[in-house]
Amino acid sequence: MKMILLGGPGAGKGTQAQILSERLEIPTVSTGALLREAIKEQTPLGMKAKSYTDAGGLVPDDVVIDMVRERLGKDDCQKGYILDGFPRTLAQAQALDTMADIDLVLYLYVADETILERLGGRRVCESCGATYHVLYQPSAAGELCERCGGTLGIRDDDRPETIRKRLEAYHAQTVPLVEYYQKQGKLRKVEGQEEVEATTEMTLRAMGEQP
Ligand code: AP5
Repeated sequence: MKMILLGGPGAGKGTQAQILSERLEIPTVSTGALLREAIKEQTPLGMKAKSYTDAGGLVPDDVVIDMVRERLGKDDCQKGYILDGFPRTLAQAQALDTMADIDLVLYLYVADETILERLGGRRVCESCGATYHVLYQPSAAGELCERCGGTLGIRDDDRPETIRKRLEAYHAQTVPLVEYYQKQGKLRKVEGQEEVEATTEMTLRAMGEQP
């Protein structure tokens, strides 16, 4: 299964990708996570990307497309993958069409007010990247990651002003992909407002899987 999780910042793409990835035994390819890793390691790609992610804008298409092409060529992607946060522009979607035959696009729909609330309370493990929310998805280990014991932190781009910029970029550049994939007959819309477990159930049903 080669699938895309499409949705706004904080829609729950990463949370659902983590669950689906374990269940379907296929990797998640998250462009946001790949970029954050490159920034942390201060690679040339990371240095180039940092100013864009910090400002809440999109990293240039050519940088992201090359990064995804390389990642999808790795062995673990050969039996399928979940794309989280890619494509985000028409140019990226067209480039992906030349790289892969995507089976399904799940559009996780969440209202902007919910996004502000979710990103305001998000905590991320600084070691393994697991995602939590102070109210909706707290770690069983309190201030530490329940998976690996790592420290939980706040993402640099989860400041209110940056969240607003990310929402603007989403509406202007990513929402048009809904129509793009509708025309290809690959889009399924999933209501992302519910709790995590209910959203997973709806996601699995949209994929034709038993919850
Ligand atoms: P990226 O990391 O992809 O960020 P994003 O798309 O803004 O998405 P998020 O990771 O913020 O949210 P999510 O939908 O994964 O939600 P999550 O599951 O964490 O990209 C970051 C930056 O990198 C971009 O701004 C851009 O600069 C750059 N970039 C990345 N890809 C790019 C590309 N293709 N092209 C160009 N630039 C690119 O959930 C959020 C919170 O809500 C968590 O706290 C979670 O616990 C909670 N939560 C989740 N689901 C629920 C639920 N159902 N109910 C209650 N709480 C929930």
